[in-house]
Amino acid sequence: MDRIVILTGAGLSAESGLGTFRDVGGLWTKYDLEEVATPEGFARNPALVHEFYNARRANCRGATPNPAHAALARLQAALPDRVTLVTQNVDDLLERAGAASVIHMHGELTRALCGACGHRWAAPDVMGVDDPCPACGTASTRPDIVWFGEIPYHMEQIDTALAQADLFVAIGTSGNVYPAAGFVQQAGFAGARTLELNLEASATSGLFDEARLGPASQLVPEWVDEVLGESVR
Ligand code: APR
Repeated sequence: MDRIVILTGAGLSAESGLGTFRDVGGLWTKYDLEEVATPEGFARNPALVHEFYNARRANCRGATPNPAHAALARLQAALPDRVTLVTQNVDDLLERAGAASVIHMHGELTRALCGACGHRWAAPDVMGVDDPCPACGTASTRPDIVWFGEIPYHMEQIDTALAQADLFVAIGTSGNVYPAAGFVQQAGFAGARTLELNLEASATSGLFDEARLGPASQLVPEWVDEVLGESVR
């Protein structure tokens, strides 16, 4: 059975009501990412950054997984040691759909990080500038999110999975942000077949062996049924 590496982006959660970033009306058309998604922005105005992520955390709590999340959880459960789920998303909808192991390369809304001692803990619903770190007590807590200019998490684990992949699938990502946008080439160089499932053509569609256009809630369950149908033959 093939080893499959799946990369997901904001398009996976779009039909759950969580906004994407670069589509019409996306988050980066409403907020200045320099202000709310960089360490410099956080240093300048931590209260604004906490307000931005508190609102996203509330949206996430109010959202429910869609059929695409459920299908990926079903695939990983059926082929536990063959499916690596990597996400750029910071929501927990894959986990809430039952996925057992999700690699969050851009961090998670549900976690808080201490800028002083590096301690991580479950984020409260609302975080504020004066929240003390439970470990060291200093009021330097931040959302455990990887901001622009920071190093994504779990890259060694992801690189290893890409080097061993037989199939790389990108779902709901515009292919604008590296290193994730380079995974298709990394996997292809290692001999993997590559497939893109996206609502519309992305910046990297031309790099995939195959690209299917449509909503994730339709394309992903269909693709998972194909894979599981093959795996029983
Ligand atoms: N089904 C499938 N794809 C969809 C759907 C849908 N229902 N709705 C939108 N899409 C696609 C869009 O066509 C687009 O290609 O999802 C993609 C969303 O692109 P972006 O908004 O750029 O989100 P993403 O690719 O995840 O951004 C990557 O950029 O700002 C950073 O850290 C942030 O993780 C994020 C990273």
